[in-house]
This record gives sequence, C-alpha cells and structure tokens, in this order.
Amino acid sequence: MYPAWLVPILGSGLVIAIIATFHILPSHLATGSFWFNVWLERKAYKENRPELLQFLKKYVLLILVFCFVYGSITGVWIWFSATVSSPRAISSLIHNYVWGWATEWVFFIIEIVAIYVYYYTFGKIDSHHHLRVGWIYAWGAWISMVIITGILAFMLTPGKWLETGNFFDGFFNPTYWPQLFTRTALMFSVAGIYAMIVASTLDNVDLKVEITRKASVWGIGGLIFGAIFAYWYISKLPPEAKDLVFGGQLPYLKTLLKVSIIIGVILGIYFVLFGLAIPKASNPLLGILFALVLFLGIGAGEGFREGVRRPYVINYFMYGSSQVIAKSIPAKKVKEQLSKLNKEGYLSVLYYLPERLRRVTEKNKLEVGRILVAHECAACHTLEPNGLLRPLPKLLSGMEKDEIKDLLDSLNDYPYMPPFVGTEEEKDAAALYLSTIAK
Ligand code: HEC
Repeated sequence: MYPAWLVPILGSGLVIAIIATFHILPSHLATGSFWFNVWLERKAYKENRPELLQFLKKYVLLILVFCFVYGSITGVWIWFSATVSSPRAISSLIHNYVWGWATEWVFFIIEIVAIYVYYYTFGKIDSHHHLRVGWIYAWGAWISMVIITGILAFMLTPGKWLETGNFFDGFFNPTYWPQLFTRTALMFSVAGIYAMIVASTLDNVDLKVEITRKASVWGIGGLIFGAIFAYWYISKLPPEAKDLVFGGQLPYLKTLLKVSIIIGVILGIYFVLFGLAIPKASNPLLGILFALVLFLGIGAGEGFREGVRRPYVINYFMYGSSQVIAKSIPAKKVKEQLSKLNKEGYLSVLYYLPERLRRVTEKNKLEVGRILVAHECAACHTLEPNGLLRPLPKLLSGMEKDEIKDLLDSLNDYPYMPPFVGTEEEKDAAALYLSTIAK
C-alpha cells in the first residue's frame, strides 16, 4: 500500500470532484465545438460568406486558449489528485489500460497539432485543405473521448472483465455505449452555449442572430438526445447502484440526479428563449451566467456518476479508501486480500511506515489508530468537525469507544461503506482514535 493522502476540511474526494468539474467543461467543449466549426466553415465556402469565417476565427481562438491552457492544466491536476488519493486504483487502471491511455494521448497530440495548424493557417491555405484540418481536429478530439469513456465506465461496470481480465471485456462494458452517447450528445450542448456566447459579442446584428439561432438548435438537440441517452445509462446501472439512488440508501445521489435534470431544463429554456425567441437579447454576461449554471450541472452529473459505485473505487473489485482488493481475478493472477489482511493486519502492508508502527502496541495505539482511519475512512470522510465531506466527528458525535468498535464491526452492513479491514487490535486502535475525535 502507498501512503494515505489526508486533506484537511475538504477531503481528498472533494478535491478530485472540484478539479474534475473544472476539467469537464473545457474537455467537452474541446470535443464538441469543432463539429459546429466545420459545419459552419463548410457553409461559409458553399455560400461564399466570408463573414462566417470572421466569426469562426474568434470562436477558435477562445477554444485554443480556454481548452488547451485551462483544460490541459486541469487534466494534469486530475492525474495528480487521483493518483495521490487512490494510488492503487490508478495503478490497477494503468496495468489494465496503459495502451488505452497511450492511444488516447496519440489522439490528444493529433488534436493539439490540428487546432494550432487550423488557427494559424486561416486564410493562408486553400479552403479545401483548411476544412480538412478542421475535420481532423473534430475526429481526433472525439476519439479521445471514445477511449477515455471506456476507462471511466469500466470503474462502475467492469462487466465480464471480472472473470476474463480481458482488455476489451472491461472496455466495452455494460455502461460504455450509453455513457459515450450521453457525453457525445451533451458535448453539442456545451458547444452550443459557447457558440452563443461568442456570437453575442458580434457587432453585425444579422450575423449574431443567425449564428445564435443555429447554435441554440445544436444546444437543444444535444439536450434532448442527452436526456434520452442518460435515461438509457441509468437503466443500465448495476442493481446495487440503483438501490443506492432509488432505494433511498443515499438520498444525496437522488438530489444530484434531480439537480442535473433541473439544470438541463433551465438550459433548454435558455436555448429556446435567447436562442430562438429573442436572439437579439443574447449577451455575453447572460451566456457566461448560464455557462456557470452548466458548470453546476456538470458537477452534479459527474458527482452522481462517481457516487453510484460506492463502496468500491473499481466496482466489485477494489474498495474505496482502503484500496483493498475485494475479489480474486484468477485470469489476472490477482488475489482477494480481505481474509489475509484481517488475519495479518492492514498495517502489515503499509511499507512506508517505520517498523514500530506496523504493529499495534499499548504505546502507539492512538497514533496507529489515526493512520488506519486515514487509510480506511478519509477518502470519503473528513476528520475535522468543520470538514465539508461527511465529517466523522459529527457523524460519531457522542459515541463511546465500544459503540464505535461495534460500528466498525458492521460497517459493511451499510451498502455504501466498505468493511473495516484489519485485526481486532487494529479495529480497537481505530475505535480509540475515532472516540477522541468524536468528543
Ligand atoms: C467509500 C466511501 C466510504 C468509506 C471508505 C467510509 N464511509 Fe462512512 N459513509 C459513507 C457514505 C457515503 C455515508 C453516508 C453519509 C450520507 O448520508 O451522506 C457514510 C456514513 C457514515 C456514518 C453515518 C452512518 C449513517 O447513518 O449513514 C458513519 C458513522 C461513518 N460513515 C463512519 C465511517 C468510518 C468510521 C469509516 C472508516 C472506517 C468510514 N465511514 C468509511 C462513505 C464511506
């Protein structure tokens, strides 16, 4: 096991969630925006309308800056934060999908080169070739989504991989297609809002109205298809996940789902009202305001997607926080670890600790208890009373050590929490530490 990452107040789970939300906006804009682009550019050439090209130049420059500075940086942040928060889970993913990521990065490079070439050759090469560079970008960016979605969906529904350990069994898993289709549809809505914001800065009113109308149609189409595919996605959730959401076991997941639906409706109203009905009234401030609403919707939607695989980080295979392997995969020569660690102790595999902390003694009990809690609870709970992520001092408030130990004994009875892993002495040490923060 690797060291645990303790984040005061926020909790590591919330850090990743915040960064991921900041990343999804530019990443889906990067994949969706160029389809609108090549469509409009083609129209510009066919109808000989250079003013459309003027719009496109503005449109692309902002994508270049926003997606390829801000989007790339937040992408690296996700890698950093996810790796320090769940190093073993990331290691498992890399062991299975290193070629998936390698392929994705090839398409990233194609995408990045293509957008620079596209922007800097505007008006400098013939239209036919310029348009072709646009198509290369659009396909390259979308294919990077085709690949990363396989790995994202794998974490919730590893499917037949659990038996076969096969790359493609895990990649083309039960929620792969619905998630890919949902993301693909919604990326057009993201592109639609963005196009409306850029169009609203145009001085030429007729052009502004024309592009705003078109962009809103893309936005509405994306929302309608996104809703249909999201429904399909939810129907494919594993039964345990459905229980968490609809069985009322984790009410906040249902709230997140409701928030994303309501935000979808609000955005639909925005597209109809300021895109189709009164496009002249569309302005940058309003657009940015609705982009913020979209941002909240993304946070809720992705929070839902991440939340439904509790108590696992890779469903059925690896528990969240403790990152203990819950299920043997003979095809991969991977062994379940629960029974071994319950006998030999969770501390026994914390190789980074000095020898004196790898076994519970009367003297180190409190210190070791804190380490165990850091590993086994802190990815989902903060340890400070004013923590934002399900603070344990509040949840355990007023409980004595023995009651807490009973709770640890039956932690797995909660459908959303992994079992406490370790020996009786370790459980006792963790309960002792928890009883001090509960006071
Ligand atoms: C994989 C994530 C995860 C891990 C790991 C985890 N919990 Fe939880 N825990 C939750 C969730 C989710 C809730 C539900 C809180 C809510 O309603 O939002 C919860 C709730 C609780 C509650 C309140 C019980 C209730 O009525 O819901 C206690 C107490 C608690 N956890 C203690 C712990 C302790 C102690 C540990 C470490 C040994 C731990 N948890 C590890 C996710 C986790």
